[in-house]
Amino acid sequence: MTPYRSPYPVPGVIWASLPLPSLLVDSKGLIAEANPAAEVFLNASAKALSGQPVLDRLAIDAPMEEAFARARRNQSGLNVNDVDVTSGERAPVQCTLHLAPMHDNPEMILLILSPREIADRLGRSMGAKTAAKSAIGMAEMLAHEIKNPLAGIAGAAQLLSMSLTQEDRELTDLIVEETRRIVKLLEQVEQFGNVRPPDRRPVNIHDALDRARRSALVGFAAHMTILEDYDPSLPPTWADPDQLMQVFLNLIKNAAEAAGAAGGTIRLRTFYDRSLRVRRRDGIHSTLPLNIEITDDGPGLPPEIAGEIFEPFVSGRENGTGLGLALVSKIVADHEGWISVDSVPGRTSFRISLPLAPKDKQKDI
Ligand SMILES: Nc1ncnc2c1ncn2[C@@H]1O[C@H](COP(=O)(O)OP(=O)(O)O)[C@@H](O)[C@H]1O
Ligand SMILES: [Mg+2]
Repeated sequence: MTPYRSPYPVPGVIWASLPLPSLLVDSKGLIAEANPAAEVFLNASAKALSGQPVLDRLAIDAPMEEAFARARRNQSGLNVNDVDVTSGERAPVQCTLHLAPMHDNPEMILLILSPREIADRLGRSMGAKTAAKSAIGMAEMLAHEIKNPLAGIAGAAQLLSMSLTQEDRELTDLIVEETRRIVKLLEQVEQFGNVRPPDRRPVNIHDALDRARRSALVGFAAHMTILEDYDPSLPPTWADPDQLMQVFLNLIKNAAEAAGAAGGTIRLRTFYDRSLRVRRRDGIHSTLPLNIEITDDGPGLPPEIAGEIFEPFVSGRENGTGLGLALVSKIVADHEGWISVDSVPGRTSFRISLPLAPKDKQKDI
């Protein structure tokens, strides 16, 4: 065997011994280099792979063009978690993908696949999703068990308050107020576990956005300015209207909370973009051309949790449950859609991409 030599400035020895399938992808999405682990994974030689479109060789159940474009645009690495990757005839393998622009040539992206088996061998014996599921299950059970005694505590405090002086009553009021807050929090936990499968029909995205906007403006977003920038020609999507509104409400609420009392501006934008394609679990390619962007001018995601905001119980706020975005991502996934976020201080933008309603159903709106 001839010693491995890379034409790119990657230390060849590291490249060759890296146990994770790794590819260098050029600005046109063509494979420039494949390491030996990638040769095994793709069942093809580096020579045969060279020059081939990476997304022809790897079918990935995620909008990869968007991910590549984002890594290049932001000149920073990004991870795509837990996606199914198929190559050739093989059954899909669940992987986490790492995309990193090359230091000296940011058009060139290093794509590293970290298959689930390897992640597990490295000590994550329980997948993040399974762990989250059991954590939610447990939280739900606890929520249910804690709510009853809380009602008793609040009731007792109220009874007690009747025989107290005004001054002491402040304390019982505090008990009642705080128990209410806990009950509300527990209800959110319960609600999270209870989301029913979406009842999908053709939905005008702007109707759902409008309902969310109006409800937000009379409530939690009263201190915000909400601007609309809609493409009125968007065809209907295929969604559960109530769940879709819940998604928009949660995102607007987070933006309003991030802005703080000073307020700020939230921009709701819709547009048509056919470039986002995903490969569904059944192997069929579908496009998600209906896009909704919810952008605020607040402080941006706290950097220490920026990579995990869609996980349940991850919150950067003092009284947060961390369930808002977990619910959003669950609903979007149930709708075969895609959500992504771009955040820098002064500009945080959540983008949701949704499928079209089936052709024969578009008229039923
Ligand atoms: N628009 C935003 N601007 C800044 N930070 C945000 C924004 N949206 C979400 N976040 C951060 O993500 C965290 C998780 O959000 P979420 O899942 O809704 O939980 P919660 O709102 O209960 O904290 C928030 O606590 C906040 O730190
Ligand atoms: Mg929230």
